Amino acid sequence: MGQRAVLLLLLLLLTASRTLLAVSFPEDTAALDVVDAHFARRYPVFRGRPSGNESQHRLDFQLMTKIQDTLFIAGRDQVYLVSLRESYRNEIIPYRKLTWRSGQSDRDTCAVKGKHREECHNFIKVLVPRNDDLVFICGTNGFNPMCRYYRLDNLEFDGEEINGLARCPFDSKQTNVALFAEGKLYSATVADFQASDSVIYRSMGDGSALRTIKYDSKWLKEPHFLHAAEYGNYVYFFYREIAVEHSNLGKVVYSRVARICKNDVGGSQRVLEKHWTSFAKARLNCSVPGESFFYFDVLQSITDIININGVLSVVGVFTTQMNSIPGSAVCAFSMADIEAVFLGRFKEQKTPDSVWTPFPEEKLPKPRPGCCAGHGPAASLKSSIEFPDDTLQFIKSHPLMDTAVPSIGDEPWFTKTRVRYRLTALAVDNEAGPHKNFTVVFIGAESGVVLKVLAKTSSTDLSVKPLIRFLSSLPRCLSNREDDKRVLSLHVDKEAHSLYVAFSSCVIRIPLSRCERHSSCHKSCIASRDPYCGWMSHGVCERIQPGVLTGYEQDIELGNTAHLGDCHGTNLISIDMDMYSPGSCSAGANGGGRTISDGQKTGLR
Ligand SMILES: *[C@@H]1O[C@H](CO)[C@@H](O)[C@H](O)[C@H]1NC(C)=O
Ligand SMILES: *[C@@H]1O[C@H](CO)[C@@H](O)[C@H](O)[C@H]1NC(C)=O
Ligand SMILES: *[C@@H]1O[C@H](CO)[C@@H](O)[C@H](O)[C@H]1NC(C)=O
Repeated sequence: MGQRAVLLLLLLLLTASRTLLAVSFPEDTAALDVVDAHFARRYPVFRGRPSGNESQHRLDFQLMTKIQDTLFIAGRDQVYLVSLRESYRNEIIPYRKLTWRSGQSDRDTCAVKGKHREECHNFIKVLVPRNDDLVFICGTNGFNPMCRYYRLDNLEFDGEEINGLARCPFDSKQTNVALFAEGKLYSATVADFQASDSVIYRSMGDGSALRTIKYDSKWLKEPHFLHAAEYGNYVYFFYREIAVEHSNLGKVVYSRVARICKNDVGGSQRVLEKHWTSFAKARLNCSVPGESFFYFDVLQSITDIININGVLSVVGVFTTQMNSIPGSAVCAFSMADIEAVFLGRFKEQKTPDSVWTPFPEEKLPKPRPGCCAGHGPAASLKSSIEFPDDTLQFIKSHPLMDTAVPSIGDEPWFTKTRVRYRLTALAVDNEAGPHKNFTVVFIGAESGVVLKVLAKTSSTDLSVKPLIRFLSSLPRCLSNREDDKRVLSLHVDKEAHSLYVAFSSCVIRIPLSRCERHSSCHKSCIASRDPYCGWMSHGVCERIQPGVLTGYEQDIELGNTAHLGDCHGTNLISIDMDMYSPGSCSAGANGGGRTISDGQKTGLR
């Protein structure tokens, strides 16, 4: 008995070290610059209560979203509206607050169902604009999800309460997404108390509601929904789930993109009635090339569809499996590549235990399964009800595409593997720099740090190696609790040159750049390779406004400072110069030596 245990342990150790060796994780790029705790403590903080009033509840951040120049920050029982136009220099002050608590009877029922009092609040999980006048908001309402319309101008509750079932999760810990497209609500969530019925659902507007097949693991298997976006004839969903096609033992998570035709009205009375006739999904391939491929399969966060140097793309942060060594990567996918995969072959499993293989193209029923009625191969059909049974039967049993979507350049933009934390959230400025042609990615981690990474892009080559730009230490609003430090969401406010960083108990605002810290050191300014900063002719490092094309020096591509002399400590007037080794301000050399754990340590003080 004892011997077997020892053997098992040895085996585990062996496999672990083998994986480590064979995987040969890429080296992390050294940071050029680090913001230390001393500075991080000055960032404006919002805790969801008047400052100094510690008796009020935690923020319990759920989501933030920008609607008409206002940042909506939703937590438990509250939504705060922060103006992005009139921001206070050193504070984040909401100009309005919406309070929606769970009703007393809902709270009582919630407690009767065995939930802790803390879980019976109304956690706001859906906040989507319906049109210019109304916003649709749903909350868990003590495990009895409810939705309401509120007027955007005065935040008054408009109309009646709407059942939140299949639109909003019961539990605040579940991830969900919602989106209005052509007047209909697309929601992806779990639709029951036990969290076993995962669903992508369409409701509101005219026509009957449609959904994915209930409890069919080929369609959805324990999904974590992360984003939805309207594009062309489709609504796309980005999520992660247990991979049905993975043949080895154990649960393995893959990342997915799925899509649904906006004009889908369900199948015939014989097949797929009141269910999607166009639901198809594909794996997202975020992997490191090399002798043995290594996959980052767990999608954590993904952007909207954005234009990156003329290519419509999404950018996501992916990690390794939760039970393996931590590693994270940022990968971008073009919408053209995603669409191409949906036009390719489907995957099939001939018998329940056999491996999955591509389904032969010539055997596909016609019109092609997964198409939108009235378009392409199904152009002659007026509606999805008219699809022949064999087309519907096929898509019902084969929703998975054979090919995984390749990432742009076939490799991650950025990886972080030599640290103990995973990256959890990201936001992208796709128009950084005076010519608006650089892409800067801000990435948050479960340890609380925020990285700023320059994705070195040009219209011809989208895949040159990026650089880490900075990382910030923990702000003072965080406790030492592990899950308190996790960056949950990021929002870039380009106009105000700010980044909102959300944690469970607070939201902080940090500047996108701090060019003035290089003050009068020419070398340090150029070496920072920051597209937001330039060396002005009058001898200072300053932020360059977009569209300003002359009168300064920048060298983003190379950061060549060989011709520039060193600056001496006395020349520096930057307030946080103590973070650099005294006597020199060559950030490239000194900053590179700093490790992330240093930053963390100072942050935890
Ligand atoms: C602090 O919050 C409590 C509970 O909401 C409230 O009763 C009290 O008036 C607040 N105090 C201040 C100074 O705002
Ligand atoms: C993922 O991409 C890599 C790099 O292009 C490729 O070699 C690999 O086969 C792909 N994996 C899948 C499952 O398609
Ligand atoms: C951005 O535009 C400027 C001016 O046209 C050009 O010099 C620079 O190389 C461009 N950078 C990229 C990454 O495309």
